[in-house]
Amino acid sequence: MTVSSAPGKVYLFGEHAVVYGEPAVPCAVERRATVSVEPREDDHIRVEARDLSLDGFTVEYAGSTGDHPDVNVPTPLVEAAIGYIDAAVEQALDAAGESDVGFDITVESDIPLGAGLGSSAAVVVAGIDAATRALGVELDAEEIADRAYRAEYAVQDGQASRADTFCSTMGGAVRVEGDDCRTLDTPNLPFVVGFDGGAGDTGALVAGVRDLRERYGFAADTVDTIGDIVREGEELLSEADPESDPDESLLVELGNLMNFNHGLLEALGVSSRSLDNMVWAARTAGAHGAKLTGAGGGGCIVALDPTPETQTGLRFTPGCEDVFRAELATEGVRAEA
Ligand code: MEV
Repeated sequence: MTVSSAPGKVYLFGEHAVVYGEPAVPCAVERRATVSVEPREDDHIRVEARDLSLDGFTVEYAGSTGDHPDVNVPTPLVEAAIGYIDAAVEQALDAAGESDVGFDITVESDIPLGAGLGSSAAVVVAGIDAATRALGVELDAEEIADRAYRAEYAVQDGQASRADTFCSTMGGAVRVEGDDCRTLDTPNLPFVVGFDGGAGDTGALVAGVRDLRERYGFAADTVDTIGDIVREGEELLSEADPESDPDESLLVELGNLMNFNHGLLEALGVSSRSLDNMVWAARTAGAHGAKLTGAGGGGCIVALDPTPETQTGLRFTPGCEDVFRAELATEGVRAEA
């Protein structure tokens, strides 16, 4: 059995705009997806998933058919999860120069599915690493990130940036602008995550922004302005000491930029009532700033607060189902066995 894990992420700034070549700064957080892989004698894929914010599911199918007839929880989220696992298997087989190998795959994840915390990227990254190692091939981190991006790109019909997959592979805070992907040295920011228990459809949300951009010049300007916010935020981060806790003035300024970023995402139509409620509850509780994270539509917000106040405020906010502090995950993909 070969086992790998990879972290989820929050976006400090820049989701959606990154799809159009603007920079983004996602940060890996200590919530991980773990993928265990065992090659089989036949070409079947058997996937057992636990804790994907669902009751779990098991499915087995012939690797080449693309049909998934026996899914016991046939929801769109499960279908999407299987799509990402398929794409990861395809990349692993391609990397190893194999075509007819099947696998027993178990996915265990404490990252809620489709909620803006990068669950699909973490599963794809850990899946590619585990499956290639199971076939005797060691890929370097750059190749894992690149293949994971190609897997996401295929599943999302060509609407994906490298941000989620690069961040999950490398860990820590990263900066992605088009094909230019780098790790950043940042202080450990005091992230608090609020989760409404829901999920968003990344493909549909990305397509919605694309339609708005095509229809209105000012929507295209809005996307460009998100890029300006990211550049301003990067400047602040580059002046901070990565070895020390961030000082209050940095948190205040980053928080202002997060609030601005959320307003523009809201204008682009990717927020929701519950995300807005949690954002306002976090600000009212004393967070320096708060915004939705990831594709939006439902799922998670991220706030900046070193004190327990935001967690307490969110805990009593109707519609907020879970609140947790998200520590920066300095390690990206890693072999567990
Ligand atoms: C989704 O986690 C982030 C988006 O920017 C899409 C992408 O970057 O591929 C909305």
